[in-house]
Amino acid sequence: MTTHSEKILILDFGSQTTQLIARRIREQKVYCEIHPYKLPLMAIKALRPSGIVLSGGPKSVYDQDAPMSDPGIFELGIPVLGICYGAQLMTVQFGGRVEKAVKREFGKAYLDIVDPVGIFAGLEAGHPEYQVWMSHGDRVEELPADFVVTARSAHSPQAAIRHRERPFVGVQFHPEVAHTLIGNDILRNFIFGMCRCQPQWTMQSFVDATVAAVRAKVGAGRVICALSGGVDSSVVAALIHRAIGDQLTCIYVDNGLMRSGETESVLRFFREKSGLNVVHVDARDYFLRELTGISDPEVKRKRIGHGFIKIFEEEAKKFGDAKFLAQGTLYPDVIESVSFVGDTVIKSHHNVGGLPELMKLDLIEPLRELFKDEVRNVGLELGLPEEAIYRQPFPGPGLAIRVLGEITAARLAILRQADVIVLEEMKRAGFYRKTWQSFAVLLPIQTVGVMGDERTYEHVIALRCVDSIDAMTADWSRLPYELLGLLSNRIINEVRGVNRVVYDISSKPPSTIEWE
Ligand code: XMP
Repeated sequence: MTTHSEKILILDFGSQTTQLIARRIREQKVYCEIHPYKLPLMAIKALRPSGIVLSGGPKSVYDQDAPMSDPGIFELGIPVLGICYGAQLMTVQFGGRVEKAVKREFGKAYLDIVDPVGIFAGLEAGHPEYQVWMSHGDRVEELPADFVVTARSAHSPQAAIRHRERPFVGVQFHPEVAHTLIGNDILRNFIFGMCRCQPQWTMQSFVDATVAAVRAKVGAGRVICALSGGVDSSVVAALIHRAIGDQLTCIYVDNGLMRSGETESVLRFFREKSGLNVVHVDARDYFLRELTGISDPEVKRKRIGHGFIKIFEEEAKKFGDAKFLAQGTLYPDVIESVSFVGDTVIKSHHNVGGLPELMKLDLIEPLRELFKDEVRNVGLELGLPEEAIYRQPFPGPGLAIRVLGEITAARLAILRQADVIVLEEMKRAGFYRKTWQSFAVLLPIQTVGVMGDERTYEHVIALRCVDSIDAMTADWSRLPYELLGLLSNRIINEVRGVNRVVYDISSKPPSTIEWE
């Protein structure tokens, strides 16, 4: 939606760290975009990049179906940085040779810089402590004519190379990962020194440009948006409100599956404090009825999803003049990811429940260029409370998939009380922001206990606290025993109907984060 006078283009060859390259570059305040390696030269030219990064990837350049970008990129007059597979491809495209290394190099290595110019400007030749991260099988064996070695490592005599005269550089290691201690220096040298970019991509500039773009697109029209209280929808609402004020109507559907106090805090901040039009739909009874007798997790999800669409549509119809629907789609949802399972390029993009087609609304997705950490920074820029910005992810079906088995108002109430205690103590102990998610789960069994002189037969709460960076994999959080003890004591003492607390020590995979 915004226009960028300067950008770096990343051509993706399927590396797991491609998004990380983009985030590292953007941290330097330079905008960049990821596209599949096959992007045609015409399209590359139309993007007018200031420089190109060729990512790593799982293939070998000599594979029959080795992914190749158009060699015409070397005639565009802009710098190119090849990383790992990207460096090997550059080598081959210029007539050099790549070979399977005798020893696969994986992990830490020390870089011996022999030519401290270009991406190594400002670094020292022969420095003993330039740790870098290697992860490759193949390596550059014979340099193309006109290329020179700029750094070596113990197992890679050509760990970094450059063209003698033209701005093409390649590195065997991964400058984007944290283990490469000089990674930021290298990327900075590339984007500022070689590509001559200016650090202009800031969240302030993003907000200004997006506000202007939303105004231009919407004119005098009305925009509706589903506000859930989560980070993405909160930032969308605040951003669009800044652009068009009262022309925005937010619809908050209380499905009765939220955490304790969520509804009140969303309404307090957005409606009372910030003056947004927020329609509060109390649909608690409706969802409870829809979920009666349902234990199957997937059926729960479907009922909740369909219920949300039905109610949202009914409410939105009351604003018949609305032309636009705002949605919190993020950049990772729109990147065309390169996957070599059958060598297909998968396009992943989801609209929330197909709402826009259903309602014939134009979509506004002001966050579709942003990574999650950038969304948080935009939120801070817009003055959202830190509590809202750094909240842990919360699943759409809410507490319904944490009350295992059948959902009743009473069982929801038990879980909600335990959940409050978990959040309170995790925050107090300073673990809330250290863990990816921390929550209580109500199990569908009862166990025997003893309280005072009496035998009890009551519910069990499982605690689930995990560390993760993207929810794809996760490990159980090693919380201090004292904290676990405190959580258990408080839950058993304060929540009527619970006589046992257990801690989940499973990682993902093979378990999942949620229990349903
Ligand atoms: P799992 O349980 O698959 O969860 O390891 C991964 C992440 O996704 C969240 N999650 C959901 N989010 N609708 C959502 O919006 C869902 O149905 C759903 N199921 C799981 C989960 O909380 C974790 O962050």
